[in-house]
Amino acid sequence: MVELANKNRIDLVVVGPEAPLVAGVADALREAGIAVFGPNAAAAQLEGSKGFTKDLCRVNHIPTADYVRVELAADAKAALERFGIPVVIKADGLAAGKGVTVAMTRSEAEAAIDAAGDGPLVVEEFLEGEEASLFALVDGETAVPLASAQDHKRVGEGDTGPNTGGMGAYAPAPVLTPELQARAMDEIVGPTARALAAAGTPFSGVLYAGLMLTAEGPKLIEYNVRFGDPECEAIMPLIAGDFAELLHAVATGRLAQIEPPQLSGEHSMTIIVAARGYPGTPASGGLIREIDAAEQVEGVTVFHAGTALGEKGLVAKGGRVLAVTAVADTFANARARAYRAVDQIDFADGFHRRDIGWRELARENA
Ligand code: AMP
Ligand code: GLY
Repeated sequence: MVELANKNRIDLVVVGPEAPLVAGVADALREAGIAVFGPNAAAAQLEGSKGFTKDLCRVNHIPTADYVRVELAADAKAALERFGIPVVIKADGLAAGKGVTVAMTRSEAEAAIDAAGDGPLVVEEFLEGEEASLFALVDGETAVPLASAQDHKRVGEGDTGPNTGGMGAYAPAPVLTPELQARAMDEIVGPTARALAAAGTPFSGVLYAGLMLTAEGPKLIEYNVRFGDPECEAIMPLIAGDFAELLHAVATGRLAQIEPPQLSGEHSMTIIVAARGYPGTPASGGLIREIDAAEQVEGVTVFHAGTALGEKGLVAKGGRVLAVTAVADTFANARARAYRAVDQIDFADGFHRRDIGWRELARENA
């Protein structure tokens, strides 16, 4: 990466996914003097190790679920007594969204521990509330909110079936009111940024705080050290001004000196079109047509995720294939546009959820 960036005189590198961040790609670029958006490996531990994040929360009094870290399955089972049921079992390391079990019964909890076997686990208290995601730009001690969003993790309508990387999203998330967002910045994101800076491992990039909005206020469920997918596709069209300049300011340590990021005030909705079989083995190679027709719908952008150009044209290559985003003045209008666009697309091997944004629409209709 360093070689490629040098050779092409690259001004800014944005490291997207977690694996290269945890592996230290940003470290290597920074050492070579190349502006990079994304944390060094040490700060990427916020996503790379759930135990690291939980300990950081405990030391800095950051609200999160009570927890224990264990190394042995027997200790994990012993810890179950402490939290009651439901209880949450988490693999410590990166697991591509598959390392978490929210156990509704004792036997489910024990089965999850048995399946994980010995090795680092976090056992934690179950938090009740609605989830929302807060995206903050962080450069050392400076942390500013960028946007909020809500994801839909389950593959099936009505939030049923296995977890996925996300089947749809909308932004902003009104459930995270300005007051709650300010609390989350003051009580969670800000203290995290300061703790990492004080430890000599400052964070630089976007910090994605997965929050549970509990009766006691926002609590941290987990951190990601990157933009979420599909949250990113929902947020990007709402960002007013020069997004590249914003990323460059973070990469060069100038976040405190620039105008805070502004959103357009519109609403957006993103529908993921996945290949049949996802999140298991997705059908590969299915033909996709009429993307142009979908993009004729006002306010719509179709982002390619898992596509490739085959001999006959555009084909599916991956689990989540397209992210269809629509922007409008209200959620209802954004949603209508997004589904109108999805319905234009001819992709026989694809499927999508028809109920993205159901929480928000229920609130709008209430
Ligand atoms: P994570 O990978 O940590 O985001 O966990 C995946 C999902 O599990 C979250 O989005 C929540 O829906 C759920 N979850 C994780 N931790 C908890 C918790 N302590 N209480 C309730 N639900 C949780
Ligand atoms: N959509 C959830 C994530 O990107 O982690």
